[in-house]
Amino acid sequence: MAASRSVMKLSSAKTGLLQLCQHRTAQTAAAAAPSVQPRLKKFQIYRWDPDTKGAKPTMETYEIDLNHCGPMVLDALIKIKTDLDPTLTFRRSCREGICGSCSMNINGTNTLACINKIDSNLNKGTKIYPLPHMYVVKDLVPDMSNFYAQYRSIEPFLKKKNTTEADVGQTQYLQSTADRAKLDGLYECILCACCSTACPSYWWNSDKYLGPAVLMQAYRWMIDSRDDFTDERLATMEDKFSVYRCHTIMNCTKTCPKGLNPGRAIGEIKKMLLSYNKDVAAKQAQA
Ligand code: SF4
Ligand code: SF4
Ligand code: FES
Repeated sequence: MAASRSVMKLSSAKTGLLQLCQHRTAQTAAAAAPSVQPRLKKFQIYRWDPDTKGAKPTMETYEIDLNHCGPMVLDALIKIKTDLDPTLTFRRSCREGICGSCSMNINGTNTLACINKIDSNLNKGTKIYPLPHMYVVKDLVPDMSNFYAQYRSIEPFLKKKNTTEADVGQTQYLQSTADRAKLDGLYECILCACCSTACPSYWWNSDKYLGPAVLMQAYRWMIDSRDDFTDERLATMEDKFSVYRCHTIMNCTKTCPKGLNPGRAIGEIKKMLLSYNKDVAAKQAQA
């Protein structure tokens, strides 16, 4: 009798536990259920296809549900390309602000699509254009040929005097901690060209003016304590356009998505050019 009573007690405890588990599971399922309210957001995107003869650029509107999209503008572009329109063309690689390939103009600002958060205001569309004042290859892809040619022109690598090919790799070129610190804020540039294509001087003279991104890299090598070609680097910029087209408008610094200050670097080059010119004049007077 006592045994059957204890069996009954055990089974009623089991039933209670089962009911509790069922209740908890139902609660968790309800919490995990996706919001039924869609969060629809419009994206107006610049489109131009060079393969369609005579086609003019247009703005195309796409609508996506932000409940099913990552938080960044690049996520939205990838979703549009995957779900709505595979012909939409843009560059991207790292998706974390490192490679510089997803630079574009979003709501009027040059920035990186992968680290630019989608504006959560559903009543306002997001407008996306390629980087301004660049030739367009297709849709959001600008032609970077001139930009890269300018970068190549400043010889962005360490140059030593009195060394031969055979010396390469034989010696370490040491640098003090203080000299290394001078490169902070310069070497981090990812060459996305957001700054150069935000610069009015670059818009009008990009064939002759080097622009903030390339000038900042030129400065980075000019002040590297291990480099022996500072004067020669300065001499290549001694003309009316390469550097002096900068009018210190500072759009470049304002727009840099990495928080760098190319405007300051250009100011420093101008100061270096001043003392370089004084030295040249003094040498000529002595001769
Ligand atoms: S500071 Fe110079 S480089 Fe920067 S946006 Fe202005 S003009 Fe262009
Ligand atoms: S300075 Fe900034 S905006 Fe300009 S290329 Fe470098 S990372 Fe891009
Ligand atoms: S995808 Fe590399 S910086 Fe945006």
